[in-house]
Amino acid sequence: MGARTILLIGAATLILSACSDLDSADATNGEAVALGKTVYVENCAACHGLNLEGQPNWRTVQEDGTLPAPPHDDTGHTWHHSDQLLFDYTKLGGAGIAPPGFQSGMPGFGDTLSDREIWAVLSYIKSRWSPENQARQERLNK
Ligand code: HEC
Repeated sequence: MGARTILLIGAATLILSACSDLDSADATNGEAVALGKTVYVENCAACHGLNLEGQPNWRTVQEDGTLPAPPHDDTGHTWHHSDQLLFDYTKLGGAGIAPPGFQSGMPGFGDTLSDREIWAVLSYIKSRWSPENQARQERLNK
């Protein structure tokens, strides 16, 4: 094996391990939270709010049959759901997850974000919850 091949294998292994080091929403992983904040600002803030505050009257169905985007902070219900459900909802969107007939306004990000970026954005969202709500949500993951 030439040095070039060894280098290539090394690089590929590095990239692979960098991609698979996240498989849950981890608010204690500073790197994930930092990446997640960027992903959030670029992809989620337009609807869910720069401060995770959601849109006004988020519990009221609008004229087009969709709901406004809910907050992702402690005032919302994101922390009532397990990591896996939040992951699936973000990856597949409301249309892929919600019950039939539900008019969803939540797009799926499976084509735009990698699994790692989705776990990162969920890590960031989780890092914004109170320690009590983080602990409550953690119990749902068991
Ligand atoms: C075009 C507006 C829009 C964008 C952009 C958007 N969402 Fe949503 N999201 C919604 C709406 C509206 C809902 C309410 C449920 C529904 O309509 O399916 C929702 C619901 C959710 C839910 C389930 C409800 C909850 O609180 O647990 C999650 C999780 C979620 N969004 C995550 C994200 C993440 C992460 C991003 C960015 C990667 C994002 N959303 C970007 C509109 C949006």
